[in-house]
Amino acid sequence: MSHFSHTPVLLSEALAALAVSAERANGWYIDATFGRGGHSAAILSQLGPQGRLFALDRDLAAIAAGREKFSDDTRLTLLHAAFGDLRQSIKAAFAQGGAATQRNGGIEGNGTFDGVLFDFGVSSPQLDDAARGFSFMQDGPLDMRMDNSSGVTAAKWLADAPEREIVRVLREYGEERFSNRIARALVAQRRIAPFVTTRQLADAVSAAVPTREPGKHPATRTFQALRIAVNDELQQIDRALVQSLELLAPHGRLCAISFHSLEDRRVKQFMQRQSQEDPVYAGLPEVPPHAQPKLKRVGRAIHPGESEVAANPRSRSAIMRVAEKIGVAA
Ligand SMILES: C[S@@+](CC[C@H](N)C(=O)[O-])C[C@H]1O[C@@H](n2cnc3c(N)ncnc32)[C@H](O)[C@@H]1O
Repeated sequence: MSHFSHTPVLLSEALAALAVSAERANGWYIDATFGRGGHSAAILSQLGPQGRLFALDRDLAAIAAGREKFSDDTRLTLLHAAFGDLRQSIKAAFAQGGAATQRNGGIEGNGTFDGVLFDFGVSSPQLDDAARGFSFMQDGPLDMRMDNSSGVTAAKWLADAPEREIVRVLREYGEERFSNRIARALVAQRRIAPFVTTRQLADAVSAAVPTREPGKHPATRTFQALRIAVNDELQQIDRALVQSLELLAPHGRLCAISFHSLEDRRVKQFMQRQSQEDPVYAGLPEVPPHAQPKLKRVGRAIHPGESEVAANPRSRSAIMRVAEKIGVAA
């Protein structure tokens, strides 16, 4: 059993947003970012015996911890999968699950769910375990893969990427103003010896950055940028948002918690776009069903309160947006 834990962010707000309650006690939900199951546990605590929760994580350690913690809860289906493949993963689970996954006499996974939750980014266990290679605070192998059973490590990425690609990643994903300078230093360094550990990378970045942001390690932005590139995080979000819309039933809720502006911008723009008619039909008297708005935004963006930030400083940058699938006229 792992000693690493994760404190769920905006927990009561997310439950309220997903409208998990006595009225929807038999609801069907997706937690697309299981982590250590903080949100999942709260959803399950509100669900009745007919309710179902499908939870995904691309991290094997998260799934293993979940299997141990929730082994006797037959309402929960845990899936080791990336949420970029959300629809396919749910379909496959339905195909395997037999009666336990049949709702309303059998469905294909389309328009079935009362809520989909995303809590983006990395979990505390990923950050706190030096062996995962996410942290510039502790030394470990330069890995950064959320799914360490596949894909390319940060070390390999950094060994192979052309300098201009390193610049782009640092600028776009790290919003790093010294991207040119850092990339040049990293490329010079890797000619001498490849980067193997997080400490080597953190030290090289610190040496290359001429000024310091107060209260921020100089390698913070570089580590964020590499993590996003290695895990293809933004593409994953774009793909998952579209698929979640297909999976939601009318009046189902989409709830997304972001931790930086690159994530939040995508969620915000997606919700905005889907809350409007397709602009191709602007001004025309009749708008066909496929071009009509699919979502209605629910409330404003929600941030953690002071007491949550004091109790869990990692929550300070969280922002949650909520939207509801528009019911289809009969
Ligand atoms: C902030 S944590 C979620 C914490 C969780 N809500 C809890 O209460 O314990 C984010 C989790 O999402 C997972 N994750 C991130 N991107 C993913 C993706 N594209 N597909 C599946 N899981 C992903 C990470 O591995 C991590 O475990």
